[in-house]
Amino acid sequence: MSKPLLRVLDGEPVWPPPAWIMRQAGRYLPEYREVRARAGSFLTLCYTPELATEVTLQPIRRYGFDAAILFSDILVVPDALGCEFTLAEGEGPRLRPTTDGAGLARLPTTLPLDRLSPVFAALGRIRAALPSQTTLLGFCGAPWTVASYMVAGRGTPDQGPSHAAWARDPAFIEALIDLLVRSSVDYLAAQLEAGADAVQIFESHAGSLAPDLFRRLSLDPIARIVTGLRERHPDARVIVFARGRGDSLAEVAATGASAVGIDQETDLASAVTALPPDMASQGNVDPEALIAGGEVLDRAVDAMLAAARGRPHIANLGHGITPPTPPENVARMLARIRAA
Ligand code: CP3
Repeated sequence: MSKPLLRVLDGEPVWPPPAWIMRQAGRYLPEYREVRARAGSFLTLCYTPELATEVTLQPIRRYGFDAAILFSDILVVPDALGCEFTLAEGEGPRLRPTTDGAGLARLPTTLPLDRLSPVFAALGRIRAALPSQTTLLGFCGAPWTVASYMVAGRGTPDQGPSHAAWARDPAFIEALIDLLVRSSVDYLAAQLEAGADAVQIFESHAGSLAPDLFRRLSLDPIARIVTGLRERHPDARVIVFARGRGDSLAEVAATGASAVGIDQETDLASAVTALPPDMASQGNVDPEALIAGGEVLDRAVDAMLAAARGRPHIANLGHGITPPTPPENVARMLARIRAA
């Protein structure tokens, strides 16, 4: 019997729906904060296989989720490309900015996978430690989101720097995105080879793109990643999460995705009508409802379950869990899903 979450990705309406939550290994967990403090820096945590394995497994031990997601970050790809990813306390991620064609020319033309060998070592260890029914997810950022961090050198509310770079020099942005498409194919293929059962592509910054640019800079590169990955791994299962694009889920599905992530701003019941009946959906409980807990959380979970009943669905939040979330609320959410 194959893993419940993989059966959903293959189009089967498994009930109750398998569940995991984005950023499930994170600062809301005291045991994460303890290991994070011991590691000293976020990057040491990401690049030390024993520690990355430990924090990946923490939410599995505590809650028994149906999937573990590799503990890492989307910005290890630019880090491996030489852009020097750092995360200072309370400041958010920083990278050495790549602002034009000359900056891009200083980067390697393919991803140096050997720099990410600790990630693959962690996947092997996690795989060996997981219960047989638990799916192991790898991931990467989508090219537009990662490019936005690379151009700005940091997170920005509206991706102004990468939009401005596109207006000034579209060939530069196209070339940067092309490098990230090829890097992502290599990276995701290596994750599958190291033990990941499926992968998720995070397009967190999809919402700031006008529809034509969304197609060109987000959907098309994601579709190229999915196609390139399946050339090497024909059965590769891919969850595509384009945050802020509840208006375009049929197009997201058309990238070749096995499942479409749905954010909490989107009405799940009407969103799923845009998808083929055997196309898996994932989401979309509001992370704020998870913070609130109690009946507010119960109502949000029930709304997700009602909208998803009868179709292939993966229970999740509409975006990542945040540090103020009481850990017991996660247990409450999971118990309610499992009782469905
Ligand atoms: O889901 C998981 O548990 C897997 C691990 C994971 C992390 N980041 C761990 C992390 C994943 C899949 C990500 C993805 C990621 N990282 C995205 C895409 C998804 C999204 O949330 O939109 C983005 C945009 C990033 C970039 C990034 N890295 C941000 C915005 C931050 C938070 C900065 C802050 O101080 O709030 C990070 C750091 C980060 N990545 C943390 C974690 C648990 C917190 C770091 C810490 O422990 O201090």
